[in-house]
Amino acid sequence: MSSVTIKSVTKSFGESQVLKEFTNTFADGEFITLLGPSGCGKTTMLRIIAGFEHPTSGEVWIGDQLVSGGKTFVPPERRGIGMVFQSYAVWPHMNVFRNVAYPLTIAKTPKAEIESRVRDALAIVHLSQYADRMPSQLSGGQQQRVALARALVAKPGLLLLDEPLSNLDAKLRESMRFEIKEIQRETGITVVYVTHDQTEAMAMSDRVILINNGVIQQDAPPAEIYNRPANPFVADFLGKVVFLKGTADTDGIALDGTGQSVANRTGVSGPVLLAVRPERISMEAGKKEGALAGTLEQMYYLGDTSDCRVRVGEQTIRVIADPFDCRDLAPGDPVSLSLHQPAIFEGEAALEEVLRIRT
Ligand SMILES: Nc1ncnc2c1ncn2[C@@H]1O[C@H](COP(=O)(O)OP(=O)(O)OP(=O)(O)O)[C@@H](O)[C@H]1O
Ligand SMILES: [Mg+2]
Repeated sequence: MSSVTIKSVTKSFGESQVLKEFTNTFADGEFITLLGPSGCGKTTMLRIIAGFEHPTSGEVWIGDQLVSGGKTFVPPERRGIGMVFQSYAVWPHMNVFRNVAYPLTIAKTPKAEIESRVRDALAIVHLSQYADRMPSQLSGGQQQRVALARALVAKPGLLLLDEPLSNLDAKLRESMRFEIKEIQRETGITVVYVTHDQTEAMAMSDRVILINNGVIQQDAPPAEIYNRPANPFVADFLGKVVFLKGTADTDGIALDGTGQSVANRTGVSGPVLLAVRPERISMEAGKKEGALAGTLEQMYYLGDTSDCRVRVGEQTIRVIADPFDCRDLAPGDPVSLSLHQPAIFEGEAALEEVLRIRT
């Protein structure tokens, strides 16, 4: 079992600084997800932890051992880490069984034990019936699962997974998500998981670290990062969001382009940006005291939800509602909207940040 401590790690490739002062500690047995847009530095961070890349400055510790930093550099094979990379590599000349058995064979594990551990790992990744196949006879998603089984079979204290489910179909992906999580819970290994799939991050992680441009934007458990985003980027990256600009004072928050206000439950005054989840906006027919008055413009029935657009003055606000609750509503109907748990960001800087995200 291993903890990981990353102290002020930076990484530059030539002129471009990909990681900026990355500092964090992953506790023993924790499931950490590094989440962020393409190119933000996730794989680079994993490669530095694994020892495939030297940090430009800073230190990496695994448990109480310094593995990268100053003059110290412990090579990857001596870091006791299991990993599955984005470009998963399986040995082309070995069948599935031998590929998965490889780390155990190297460690001179007794034959009977290899047999049972490989069978178990293959069952976990739903490949039991493919043990005798060669990689060339497998699909991309199946090869990816071979790589995952090979990483799991060695029971490492620390497992680094870089988008290990990216080539799987939605159903298999969902089931593997829970299986990986289950294995981690049972074995108590520390997992650092990289994905740009926010649902995957939410479902599996103890803690999500959201990165943009090599800088940590927020580091929090899933519910907190979703419900209390630290800045507009986080609100926008995780889930759906409606942004509304406004001006706050003690009477309320006047929303731009609507001619209407909502309650101000904070002490904030001046320009603000509200970020609210469209599923946290409740919509009722007709007018309601204290709610925003608007007109239902569009309603798309999606089975489990109805995705609606409501015009409020010059603004169009997205609302995700329960189809049952809007069974009597139709486009053109007057409706009232109540915003629940909006995040409120202060100042002009917040507004600029959103414009930057959107462009
Ligand atoms: N060996 C390298 N030489 C130069 N630039 C590199 C190198 N490796 C990565 N980069 C750059 O570093 C940045 C971060 O890359 P990285 O692979 O860590 O991103 P990522 O977050 O994993 O993205 P993705 O989600 O697309 O996999 C990118 O702009 C990339 O072009
Ligand atoms: Mg990557």
